[in-house]
This record gives sequence, structure tokens and C-alpha cells, in this order.
Amino acid sequence: MNKEVDGRCAAYRAVIAGTGSFTPKKILTNEDLSKMVDTSDKWITVRTGIKRRHITEDNETTAYLAIEAAKIALAEAGLSGKDLEIIIVATITPEMVFPSTASFVQKELKAKKAFVFDLAAACSGFIYSIAIAQQFIESGRYENCLIIGAETLSKITNYKDRTSCILFGDGAGAVVLERAKDGNKGVLYSTMGSDGEVWKALNCQAYGSRYPARKKLDDPNKIYMEIHGREVYQQAVRKIVTTVQKCLKECDIEIDDIAMLVSHQMNARIIESAAKRLKLPDEKVFVNIQEYGNTSAASVPIAFDDCRKQGKIKKGDLVILVAFGAGLTWGANVVQL
Ligand code: UT7
Repeated sequence: MNKEVDGRCAAYRAVIAGTGSFTPKKILTNEDLSKMVDTSDKWITVRTGIKRRHITEDNETTAYLAIEAAKIALAEAGLSGKDLEIIIVATITPEMVFPSTASFVQKELKAKKAFVFDLAAACSGFIYSIAIAQQFIESGRYENCLIIGAETLSKITNYKDRTSCILFGDGAGAVVLERAKDGNKGVLYSTMGSDGEVWKALNCQAYGSRYPARKKLDDPNKIYMEIHGREVYQQAVRKIVTTVQKCLKECDIEIDDIAMLVSHQMNARIIESAAKRLKLPDEKVFVNIQEYGNTSAASVPIAFDDCRKQGKIKKGDLVILVAFGAGLTWGANVVQL
């Protein structure tokens, strides 16, 4: 399809020039977890769709995963680090407190020309990053941007808490956006939203300025992710549906125009029930949660890369990337390949 989907018709577009993803070799299966906590493969599969997740070794860090994913995306784009003008790393498990994870990516890629920063919007971080890069590129001021979603959630997972440890995995996904004059191709529209009132539903409270590392914690579990999944389950479904509907309305397109919905992989049941409400058939909804679990900011770019590399989307296709997560945050990008 080659339809003009955005009435605003930007002079420049941010076009997908390459994608890549990288996950650690070590695998943690549902069977492994059922030996660690009171759970079962059946419970995890039925409730979430997850079968296994990739987990870092102690010496594997967020920047390492980010760099490996970035190299693949750059190679596909035919660019090298020295060409890059912007690097954004979306993460909630950064390399260290500071400098940013993006600084380590810049160093390794020898991207001396770029300005770089991290973005913390949890599971929506990659969507937010695309939206921000889109502004820089559409303004005409910048020619390209490397965006990476990278997480080592296993490092803040409590493997004694069955309500959270079954959900999360590690990995990284990357996209290179390049400026183009083709009005119909690229990131056509982005939308973002947040609700800080509900911050407690999904959180990891230490270590930050509220609970600094030098002060003894009242509850040692504050160093781990805490998730009140049931509280946000319905909201996750609703937000995905309303966010996608907003994309359709703002771009003046129908659900049938969408070739693929690439959602944040937080729970296969949430994705399926959102898709059902949107009247999207199964073959237009990409799901790879069975392999990776929930990798927060890395989830959408890993899914997008897998979806492309499996040949499920092709040039000219209209794709919606959508996410919902801690903050709360949510958002979507409408992309024409
Ligand atoms: O990426 C950020 C966005 N993430 C989300 O939005 C997550 C949204 N929420 C979810 O995906 C789901 O709520 C979960 C997968 C987290 C949980 O599934 P659920 O169907 O909402 O289960 P629940 O929390 O209501 O728990 C049902 C039962 C409880 O037992 P009782 O109280 O009914 O006796 C839990 O204690 O399942 C129990 N349970 C488990 N049982 C076996 C909780 N975790 C486990 C477990 N294995 N791992």
C-alpha cells in the first residue's frame, strides 16, 4: 500500500534504515523457574505466553547488549559509528548511575560526532525515543539517529518472588533512522502519554535519591522490581486499544490498512485481547514473548527486528509499534516501511 497517511506531510521523514537485536546466550526456562519458586510451566504459559527468557551472565552489561544490537542495525543501514549524529538508549537498567549507557555505546562505536543520552520511560522508552528522534530529523537539522532499547532486568529481578521473576528477560534491539525526502515512508506519526499517579504499580525503588545506596534499606527487597500486575492488566489492554485507535484517527487510516501490530511484549493475553478489540486478525499481530519474556524498553525493537527478519513485514507495509508500562507510560509510532 502506498497511501498518504499524514495530512501534515513533513518535508523530511525519519526512515527505518536498519534494525538489529541481540540477546544473551544463557536461557532461563519455565522449568528452571519452577525449581526456584512455587510455579509451573503451565501457569506461566497460560497466564503470560512466556516459555523462556535470555539472561545475562554477571559480566554481561546493558551497554554490551546495546552495542551488539547497534552493530547489526548499523551494518544493515550501511553506516558506521562515525556517521552518527544522535544516539539514544532507552533503558531502566543503565550501565551505571552516570554517565549514560549511551556514552558507552558512543565510545565503542567511535561515534565522535554524535550527541548521546539515555531515556527512562520503562517499557515505552523505545517508542518515546523514536518520537523524539522523529522531531530532530523532521526539523531538517539532523540526518540520522541510532535508537537502542536495552535492558538487563535480571539484575533487578527477585528470583524468590514468583509474581515478578517469571516475567522478565534481558536483551537489546536497535533501529537506525535516516532522513529522507520521500513523504510516504518512515515514521509518520507518534503519540505518547503518562500517568505518574500510578507509579507504584510497577517500580524498583532503590537505589536512587529517595533510597541512596549508602543508607540501610527498611526493606531489602526495594532493590528489586515490584509489580502489581493485576492492578494494571485491564489498563494495559485499554491503553493499547485507545492508543492504536488514536493512531488510526490521526493518520486517517482504517485498521485494515495496518499490516502488523508490533506491541510491547508484556503478556500474550494482553496483546491478544487488545488485538481482538481492535478486530485485528492473528496474522497481523506479532508475538515473540514465548522466547524473551518481558524485556521492557528492549521489547518493541527486538520484536520489530524479529518481525522484519522473519519476513512478516515488507517494504511499503504500514506498521504500528505500541507500548505500555511503568510510569505509567504508553505510546505508539506509525511507521511505513
Ligand atoms: O511491562 C509492563 C507492563 N506490564 C503489565 O502491564 C503486566 C500486566 N499484568 C500481567 O501481565 C498479569 O497480571 C500477570 C502475568 C503479572 C499476573 O497474571 P494474573 O492472571 O493477573 O494473575 P494474578 O496476579 O491475579 O494471580 C492469580 C493467582 C494468585 O493466587 P490466588 O490469590 O488466586 O490464590 C497468585 O498468587 O496466581 C498466583 N500466582 C502464581 N501462581 C503460580 C502469581 N504468580 C504465580 C506464579 N505461579 N508465578
